[in-house]
Amino acid sequence: MGRSGPRRMIAIVLSLVITAVTVWLMYIAFVDSADTPQTTYQAMSDNAQLAQDVYTIIFILAGAVMAGVIALTLAFSFIYRERPGQQALQIHGNSKLELLWTLLPVLIVAAMAVPTFNAIAVITGDAPEDSLEVKAVGYQWWFQFQYPELGVVTASDLHLPVDRPILVKLESKDVIHSFWVPQLSGKVDMVPGHTNQLWFTPNTVGEFMGQCAEFCGLSHANMRFRVFVHTQEDFDAWVQSQLAEAATPEEGLAAAGAQQFTMSGCIGCHTVRGNALAMGVIGPELTHFGSRTRLAGGMVENTEVELRRWLKNPPAMKPGSIMPNLNLTDEQIDSLVAYLYSLQ
Ligand code: CUA
Repeated sequence: MGRSGPRRMIAIVLSLVITAVTVWLMYIAFVDSADTPQTTYQAMSDNAQLAQDVYTIIFILAGAVMAGVIALTLAFSFIYRERPGQQALQIHGNSKLELLWTLLPVLIVAAMAVPTFNAIAVITGDAPEDSLEVKAVGYQWWFQFQYPELGVVTASDLHLPVDRPILVKLESKDVIHSFWVPQLSGKVDMVPGHTNQLWFTPNTVGEFMGQCAEFCGLSHANMRFRVFVHTQEDFDAWVQSQLAEAATPEEGLAAAGAQQFTMSGCIGCHTVRGNALAMGVIGPELTHFGSRTRLAGGMVENTEVELRRWLKNPPAMKPGSIMPNLNLTDEQIDSLVAYLYSLQ
């Protein structure tokens, strides 16, 4: 044994280095994920924080187990390996050790279970009485948001007040979708003919990414939305702006666009409150289209360049889009763009 002293040292040091590097890589992955927009590791609501606390506990316990297993496996397989004059170490019938490595995992799993069940009970429990109710409806491939108490309907941008519990009722018009805003809440399915729900209280003013998290057809990956959490004051102002009906432009390009909107059949699929002809319910309500940040189901920024690209050929931009290519001329698109941006 004496001869193998230095080699044993090398083996132990090497085991520790490999273990340290592995743990360090895990840590990097863990911390780095905090800088990505879809991270679950920067919780911005009470329930997301609750879930993240469970995640942290499990991460630390699992990390400790992993580090211990790697270090001991590497060290033992060198130190106790078979070589001339020494048999490989085998352990049989050691009751104390057997008991230890049976009970230890039980304790570790129990330590994970208590906070997990507690978090599940809170998150799936009833929302507080003073919650603001929002109905989120999934369509192929965009999200509609209704505020039954406020009389507001919008799409792709979900606006919420900070520090007030939000009860989201989830429905679908066609296939199964899933509502997910990683920084605010876990994902919950939106099932046709059945209402699911989730609740959370956003605690930070800001903009958060949301997306459909259930494969729902060709443009599943393009089914996105943004959540804007405002101060109560800003939220109230937004609600006021959304309650107004759209004014019909009297003259100029926008007025031509309003006519084009009727002639091209847009009115069959889209509602514009204030435009008596536009009462369609297949596509998003457009009464305040100009005030939205995104278009085409949250795919792209709501800019003139993107809107032109969209009107020119929707299915080319968003595969499977129910909005067809209407073969609009550039002049027709000019007028439609002017009309749509007049809908502030
Ligand atoms: Cu809707 Cu995926």
